[in-house]
Amino acid sequence: MNVAIVRAADWPDMLELAKLHIAAHHEAHGGYDRTIEDVARTWQAAADIHALLARASSGECVGFIAHRQISGDERFITDMYVRPDVRKSGIGQKLLRATLAPKSVSLTVWGGNAPAIALYEKLGFLPAGPAIVDQHGRSMIQMKWSV
Ligand SMILES: CC(C)(COP(=O)(O)OP(=O)(O)OC[C@H]1O[C@@H](n2cnc3c(N)ncnc32)[C@H](O)[C@@H]1OP(=O)(O)O)[C@@H](O)C(=O)NCCC(=O)NCCS
Repeated sequence: MNVAIVRAADWPDMLELAKLHIAAHHEAHGGYDRTIEDVARTWQAAADIHALLARASSGECVGFIAHRQISGDERFITDMYVRPDVRKSGIGQKLLRATLAPKSVSLTVWGGNAPAIALYEKLGFLPAGPAIVDQHGRSMIQMKWSV
């Protein structure tokens, strides 16, 4: 599938982000009681979060990635998701590559998430620091990419 990676900028983009965010939450944790508009408002208000959308030529958005700028040189990936029906076609890799700058990028990933860990390793992420437990009680691996 041909996709363009675009910066999420306007309200329609926030609605697309919100739909993908809710789908990601359903997949990872089950039910979610927030509306699309409510989640979109949260994304719009998060001035320190930068989000990219994977937009197909049909116009629909099929994935996203978001990061927080920790310092001038360092980013932390907060979210990443590709719609299940278009996985394994290079979209996750394209989104991640678009975020790999300027000097180092870190993230945490659930230790049981083999597809995501394989993707991060493929793009050069290495384990960084001890495992940590998230708010859902899951053991999370810290990983880091550096130039
Ligand atoms: C992880 C995720 C973003 C990958 O997206 P994707 O578009 O399917 O990934 P790509 O097609 O770009 O795959 C790139 C590489 O990742 C690895 N990979 C992706 N899916 C994989 C799978 N199911 N099993 C093993 N490796 C996998 C492979 O190394 C692959 O390279 P290859 O195609 O040459 O083998 C997607 O599975 C997803 O959205 N999962 C649910 C949300 C999630 O886990 N987010 C990350 C939270 S930390």
